[in-house]
Amino acid sequence: MAESLLQCVEISKRFGFIQALNGVTFDLHKGEILGLVGDNAAGKSTLLKIIAGYHRPDKGEVYLDGERVEFASPLEARLAGIEMIYQQLLLAPNLGVVDNIFLGREESLMGILLNRTRMRRRAEEILSKLGGDDIPLDSKVYTLSGGQQQIVAIGRIFASNPKVVLLDEPTASLSVKAAQHVLEVVKELSRRGISVIYVSHRLPDVLSISHRIMLLRRGKLVFIRPANEVTEHDIIRGMISE
Ligand SMILES: Nc1ncnc2c1ncn2[C@@H]1O[C@H](COP(=O)(O)OP(=O)(O)OP(=O)(O)O)[C@@H](O)[C@H]1O
Ligand SMILES: [Mg+2]
Repeated sequence: MAESLLQCVEISKRFGFIQALNGVTFDLHKGEILGLVGDNAAGKSTLLKIIAGYHRPDKGEVYLDGERVEFASPLEARLAGIEMIYQQLLLAPNLGVVDNIFLGREESLMGILLNRTRMRRRAEEILSKLGGDDIPLDSKVYTLSGGQQQIVAIGRIFASNPKVVLLDEPTASLSVKAAQHVLEVVKELSRRGISVIYVSHRLPDVLSISHRIMLLRRGKLVFIRPANEVTEHDIIRGMISE
């Protein structure tokens, strides 16, 4: 039996007249990559934002490690181990390696103000664990090789020591090669026991990296199934059929 890390029970969310989510129940296993698919406006981003503490559900419950959680802010969710990464924000090419590793978190780590020296030391530790000892901390990220950038991207996620990583269309505007790197990052997270919900319209990618596929249509769960039992055709049919 796979160990369950996160559970969502009967999650609903309405924006004005739009029922963005309607009684969505599912669980996420430890170390699992759950591919979340569905047509535009199906409710995918809304679901991730609820898990990440950006929105509160109108109804329903979220459990992490078996405990009910009700995050008042994204920071609370992050401190509980839930990290959401927005489109294209895996790395900032014009910033240095250390800044990338702490991107968006410079202000606080467990409520402590991080100073530069401490950030550098921690960045070094993280990179070295990932086999990136040779990455020069002062380089701008765009000057690094693809493989080195990949290590920095993984390092960035590891810096917050998350249990769950939520990725919303991380490859939408990337080159084929950069997108491939993102997929490698996701697989590495899973190998290290971190659970991932991966939202993408690129169905072949989702099918190739996910353990299970979850399909939403107009805010409702259509199915959640092992990825090897789902074809692209099944997904497309599920997306459009009434
Ligand atoms: N903050 C908001 N205010 C009002 N309506 C919203 C808000 N966020 C989402 N919605 C609506 O909720 C529905 C679901 O949106 P959501 O962004 O979750 O879809 P999605 O599955 O992520 O779509 P896409 O694939 O296009 O990103 C849409 O009809 C959208 O217009
Ligand atoms: Mg979306």
